[in-house]
Amino acid sequence: MRSSKPRHLLWFGFKIVIALFFLSYCLFASLKLHSHVKLPSLHPPAFHASPSLRYHHFEGTPKIAFLFLARRDLPLDFLWDSFFKNVDAAKFSIYIHSTPGFVFNETTTRSAFFYGQQLNYSIQVIWGESSMIEAEKLLLLAALQDPANQRFVLLSDSCVPLYNFSYLYSYLMSSSKSFVDSTKKRSRFHEATEIFYTDWTFP
Ligand SMILES: *[C@@H]1O[C@H](CO)[C@@H](O)[C@H](O)[C@H]1NC(C)=O
Ligand SMILES: *[C@@H]1O[C@H](CO)[C@@H](O)[C@H](O)[C@H]1NC(C)=O
Ligand SMILES: *[C@@H]1O[C@H](CO)[C@@H](O)[C@H](O)[C@H]1NC(C)=O
Repeated sequence: MRSSKPRHLLWFGFKIVIALFFLSYCLFASLKLHSHVKLPSLHPPAFHASPSLRYHHFEGTPKIAFLFLARRDLPLDFLWDSFFKNVDAAKFSIYIHSTPGFVFNETTTRSAFFYGQQLNYSIQVIWGESSMIEAEKLLLLAALQDPANQRFVLLSDSCVPLYNFSYLYSYLMSSSKSFVDSTKKRSRFHEATEIFYTDWTFP
């Protein structure tokens, strides 16, 4: 019997690619990671701990992890700044994958929420190539180090929040589903899309 692992890896890649497709149109993907999280190995292996067990019984305030895949800076940082302003810091975390060597500090971003939030290890990303998937995996891997992160939102550098934090927080926390899109409500922004993932599991 052939190992089923390559198929799983492929399937994983496929799902991420779909998410990235939507990201490119600046939609909003969130996913709930199920308890059997096992990510394909990365090169170089940036982290060692397997997060799978820690996700079974998390107690405390759950966080939404905002994972930004940026080309360089975040041009819409000022919008995100007002989105995160006055929000309980225990309820969210921010991770940014940007071009290697790019530092989010006073010079490069207008929002203090982004200072020092870029991954220490990042790769050169080419649009539409598998490096995008690798970068998303790096973001997820970093976010999975914190068991408080219970929801994961994949964003591009041109995404903007359409709803306030409290609305988004209760929306995502009360759902066990995964979305490609920001909300079920139809609007001009996303009338062509529907939630079509009901269960996004990592094999
Ligand atoms: C921000 O980071 C860049 C790149 O590392 C550096 O050149 C610049 O001096 C830093 N600015 C501040 C205010 O730390
Ligand atoms: C990057 O490394 C520094 C120092 O080791 C650490 O404080 C910081 O949390 C790391 N950042 C990320 C996003 O992992
Ligand atoms: C957030 O948005 C919701 C729905 O649009 C609204 O009912 C609520 O008052 C807003 N909360 C804050 C703190 O602005």
